[in-house]
Amino acid sequence: MAGKKKEIILQITIHNQEQWEEVLSSKGLIVVDVYQAWCGPCKTTVSLFRKIKNELGDDLLHFAVAEADSIDALEKYRGKCEPTFLYFAGGDLVAVVRSANAPLLQKTILEQLEAEKKVLNHGLERNVIKDEELLEEEETSPLPTQIEDEELVPSGKSYTVAIIKPDAVAHGKADEIIMKIQDAGFEILANEERTMTESEARDFYKHRAGEEKFHELVQFMSSGPCHVLIISKSEGEDVIPTWREFIGPTDVEVAKKEKPESLRAQYGTEVLYNAVHGSNDREQASRELAFFFPSFKLQQTEESRTPERTLALIRPDVLKDRKDEVLQSIRDAGFSIAMQKQIMLTKQQVQEFYKEHVDQEYFPALEQQMTSGPVLALALVKDDAVKHWRNLLGPADLSEALNEAPDSLRARFTPRETKINQLHGSSSPVEAEKEINFFFPVERTLAAIKPDALEEHRDEIMERIQAAGFTVSHIKETNLNQEVAEEFYKEHKGKPFFDQLTNYMCRGPCLMMILSKENAVQEWRSLMGPTDPTEAQTSSPESLRSLFAKSILQNAVHGSSNLNHAMEKMKFIFGDIELERTNNETLTQSFLNDTADEVKQSDENTATEKNEAQPSQEDG
Ligand code: CMP
Repeated sequence: MAGKKKEIILQITIHNQEQWEEVLSSKGLIVVDVYQAWCGPCKTTVSLFRKIKNELGDDLLHFAVAEADSIDALEKYRGKCEPTFLYFAGGDLVAVVRSANAPLLQKTILEQLEAEKKVLNHGLERNVIKDEELLEEEETSPLPTQIEDEELVPSGKSYTVAIIKPDAVAHGKADEIIMKIQDAGFEILANEERTMTESEARDFYKHRAGEEKFHELVQFMSSGPCHVLIISKSEGEDVIPTWREFIGPTDVEVAKKEKPESLRAQYGTEVLYNAVHGSNDREQASRELAFFFPSFKLQQTEESRTPERTLALIRPDVLKDRKDEVLQSIRDAGFSIAMQKQIMLTKQQVQEFYKEHVDQEYFPALEQQMTSGPVLALALVKDDAVKHWRNLLGPADLSEALNEAPDSLRARFTPRETKINQLHGSSSPVEAEKEINFFFPVERTLAAIKPDALEEHRDEIMERIQAAGFTVSHIKETNLNQEVAEEFYKEHKGKPFFDQLTNYMCRGPCLMMILSKENAVQEWRSLMGPTDPTEAQTSSPESLRSLFAKSILQNAVHGSSNLNHAMEKMKFIFGDIELERTNNETLTQSFLNDTADEVKQSDENTATEKNEAQPSQEDG
């Protein structure tokens, strides 16, 4: 038994063809997890491999991970969906397992290791194989709708997801709708019948989490099979607006009146049961494509590419002393910081976030480190962000980082006495989105446009709210009276400007809104800018207060300062609506409760780089 206490690297990461050849020339059996960039290496098999390695303690057994895209020898494995484990010995392929089937993986390891020992010790001939499945694929051409086998799709065309929803499918209308879609000149590249789970539906519609009918929407979308299609139009025609036009307005009643020939008018019955779905814009289309068809990749042009996001964590030991240096290195490497949040995690939250790692030997130390002080979570944006950030981080194992990649961030920013590396990066784009959602869930906040700004800049402010990606789920124009204004601003009672403030707010109608977005409370505060417009003009020149506020009192817009206030004020203003906390808000709230002192809602960030977590100035 070679149960070593210290965490050792189990799987060698092969980054390029040169390393591939080097690793394959090792003596013994090498089990390679061949993965795609969009899904990352298979996490579920790591503990199995570790167990086998520990139990056998055999120096002839090696494990590696290799991304198909970055290694020439793996060209034929690019764009595949299923987990693939290749077994090599003496540089030759000796076995292939195409699933994360633990007993099969284990059995194959034992057999192949035994066989390789016979080759090495007794000169037996090695049983070299060819990957049968690849050979078969070469012989048969893919079906036109099997998008799994089409790795790259030309970018000259635009693509969108179209869904024939459970109501239309249940009424037996799917085939009829598909014929109409084709007759209208849409090309259907994929047509998959699937029933979404509740959790998938929630995830798919997460941008609408703040809406009143969200729960009903999730129930409906997971109530039965849908047809999920990838559709396109001819070269040069943008399919997204064409498809939206074809399906008609969301509200079936409006569709019936204004666009009776549209699909929703013909097949929908009410707002929720409106028969078909279309993505709103290019960004949403690419997210939805990635959601349903992770292997669908566009050969995007430079201009059309939406930069990728990844989650970065700066752990407590380095955060307390070297935060600015780390942030500078991140910017120097060309990342922009879309969101950031400094938080104190509980053990429960660490276990939830690292649920795949809880059985690992290193987990107690990781948990101890992650709960020893505040952690900084960052959503980083750049082309190929996941890969670039991981390359910049260097090896997860600290001794490997120090010895083999001394310039990597992990080597540079880990205090010598620390056992746990101080920086985290998501393992794949899919993981990145999940992890970003963990730290920056969709929230709701209360926003107000104050009387003078509403009269003078209503449209400009609304445009900026839309452009910043907020969803306005509730909106109401209202004249506050003195009593309501005093209650609304009760936190400021006793301050010298309180009377002026309440008088100002009663001067004319205000526009009250519930906005939802990832990290909405902080994002809205960033878009507003600092309370005082003179400060806003220097620190956040693009912010609403910089552009539209007249003074610190007449500062154009208002926003809740934290989730508790947001919930209280949303109820106060929109008392008649249902405002159950979403799961996400409950999670974020528990962050806030745990870290009342640490979590600083930023008031100062610039609109372009809303990232410097600063102490807040005013609680609204
Ligand atoms: P708001 O974000 O709505 O929160 C409280 C409001 O009080 C603030 O915006 C300003 O309108 C007002 N306010 C805050 N500080 C001052 C100040 N020093 N002088 C006058 N008005 C202020």
